[in-house]
Amino acid sequence: MATAVEKVTPVAPPPDNEADKLLPGRHTLPASWWTSEKVLDFEKRAIFAKAWLYCIHSSRFTKAGDYFSFNFLGWNFFVIKTKEGSIKAFHNICRHRAYPVVRKQQGSSTILGCKYHGWSYDTDGLLKKAPHFDKIEGFEPKDNSLYEIKTHISRQGLVFINFDNTENATPFEEFFAGLETEMDEYDFTDYEYHMSYELDGQFNWKTLMDGYQECYHCPTAHPGLNQAFKMETYKVVPKGNYCRHYAKIVQEEVPIIDDNGDADQESSWFGFGKKRDISKAEKKENPGGSFNGLWCYLFPTNGVNCYSPAWYSIRVLPITAKRTILQYDIYTKKGATEAQKKEFVDFLQQVEIEDYNLCEATQKNLNNGVYNTGYLHPTKEKGVLHYQGLVSKMVKNHYELEKAAGQAINPAALTGSRNEEAEELEKICSGIECMGSNPGEQHEGLEW
Ligand code: FES
Ligand SMILES: [Fe+2]
Repeated sequence: MATAVEKVTPVAPPPDNEADKLLPGRHTLPASWWTSEKVLDFEKRAIFAKAWLYCIHSSRFTKAGDYFSFNFLGWNFFVIKTKEGSIKAFHNICRHRAYPVVRKQQGSSTILGCKYHGWSYDTDGLLKKAPHFDKIEGFEPKDNSLYEIKTHISRQGLVFINFDNTENATPFEEFFAGLETEMDEYDFTDYEYHMSYELDGQFNWKTLMDGYQECYHCPTAHPGLNQAFKMETYKVVPKGNYCRHYAKIVQEEVPIIDDNGDADQESSWFGFGKKRDISKAEKKENPGGSFNGLWCYLFPTNGVNCYSPAWYSIRVLPITAKRTILQYDIYTKKGATEAQKKEFVDFLQQVEIEDYNLCEATQKNLNNGVYNTGYLHPTKEKGVLHYQGLVSKMVKNHYELEKAAGQAINPAALTGSRNEEAEELEKICSGIECMGSNPGEQHEGLEW
């Protein structure tokens, strides 16, 4: 099989647009958007319930019944390989009384049994057994199957889900138009799962994205990264709901040479400039020199970053307005030695912890009520401007929708199983929620 290095020809970034250099900068969104729980609640309905979210790579599923469970802002769900070999996603909610059907982060079972009252489902989410319900009039197992979530598996095996349950849900091909073709530049089949790790940060999800979407900070904040790439070539190119990042690897043009002039002894496997020993075989196929990387930010909270020796994904999980969990999955090149894998992981973790520290310190100041907005560079921070623009557009659109409807609209809500009585009681509940804590007091419309 062709290796990634032989197959891949990363495209060059589009040339600079001279007119861009004359653009005025713009300000960031106000700091309150980084601190308010109500804004995060609203973003959940306006953005996260409508976007395509990356979960996992299909190579992690080897046999029918393999599953991985996730939690995104309280939405519990799992992704499973069916008996027919496809990959499906379901809300991790038993249709009986809402107990979670799978309890582990990862497992394998072709029958999923709920540990509350013993209902069980197959890998297609169909209800197969409901103890003592067989003779109950009007009870239809097919109407009590697990709630399926929209999925898209890219031809590279990247698994995405979308919580939007409305008829207005945006198809994947529209939401990420062009992404799948772009990803063809990289041979995902030549890589295998290596490891995952997680960071728990005291900052808003956008604080991380602000840093992710520009490399203006790299010369100051990432000394290691700065050695690995030609920072002057770093460019973020917005492509709708994703942005591609481009930069040239230094090693391509400037081999790392030690004091004795022996490049083979000092050159790291993929040119990040760390001193280490490598065997002759390894140095011959040094792949870092031919691939400048395929790094994509996937709006709103994901990234897929492909290098020669490995690729990794990042899932950014907002927990509260001021707390976010970052999950990294790393897939290394097949046949890579433990030392080569370690070199990549060390490099990645160093850069990520540098970003993490920037975020924690920044968020403290965003929280303190002094700073409001800052001025962004029109080209160097173009990616930040772009994604913040997407945030504000989606929030504004949804705000108008809710204002017109006079109530909160949650596109992820599952309303299919409601009956007339449930509808009536739901209305009473909304009425109660609209009342203030003091009797007689009425909130006027939405709270923000
Ligand atoms: S909640 Fe699952 S069987 Fe009752
Ligand atoms: Fe960074």
